[in-house]
Amino acid sequence: MNPLKHVAIIMDGNGRWGLKYKNSRNAGHKAGLNTVEKIIKETIKNKINFLTLFAFSTENWKRPKKEVNYLFNLLENFLINRVEDLHKQNIKLKILGSKKFSSKLNKLLNNAEKKTSKNTKLQINLALNYGSKSELINAFKKIKKNKNIINEKNLSKNLQTRNIPDPDLLIRTGNTKRLSNFLLWQLAYSEIFFEKKLWPAFTEKDYSRIITEYKNIKRNFGKI
Ligand code: IPE
Ligand code: IPE
Ligand code: MG
Repeated sequence: MNPLKHVAIIMDGNGRWGLKYKNSRNAGHKAGLNTVEKIIKETIKNKINFLTLFAFSTENWKRPKKEVNYLFNLLENFLINRVEDLHKQNIKLKILGSKKFSSKLNKLLNNAEKKTSKNTKLQINLALNYGSKSELINAFKKIKKNKNIINEKNLSKNLQTRNIPDPDLLIRTGNTKRLSNFLLWQLAYSEIFFEKKLWPAFTEKDYSRIITEYKNIKRNFGKI
């Protein structure tokens, strides 16, 4: 049975779900938040240490302003209402991506990170305004600035995911088979599951099924 320390998820399909069932993409984003809560619970149940959630990509700024605003409003409300409880559950919150948001949101994010920084049960990495290519470029720049040599260890150390093991498992919901600029370096040897279901329709049961399947895969890492 494979150990499972880190699950990464591309939570895709909110917009399509919202349009289909509520005639509004934004309603899909709201419903997607319920799935986030369910998946956090299930992650804890499975004693997984790291959960990385792709919530907003550097490319998602190209969406209509109304949708972008709605998403960040949802996030603000989530932080205001839920961080205390996450903290009580010994969950650590970390943001991946560059925090270039409104000063209100930046403050909420910084406070949430600070408050939960010593927690040890589960680390949730929220990828927000995250793009893997820019993360890699910044890592190379830092290596150059410090006059360090370029090798795998130094590159990993200069990514935002330093101190986080690479994902063992990547799940992308929403019936699309691509990485969309997510963790390109870190996913080099991850097991990848592309799920047909849209994120708001994804359940604990779907998640458990994938975990079980993952645990039984023969991971080779180049060996036989
Ligand atoms: C993923 O769902 C959530 C975000 C990118 C914020 P989408 O909004 O991409 O949903 P679809 O893919 O359009 O259905
Ligand atoms: C990936 O979904 C980003 C997030 C889930 C946050 P997108 O819906 O933005 O991906 P593309 O544009 O279809 O590749
Ligand atoms: Mg999408």
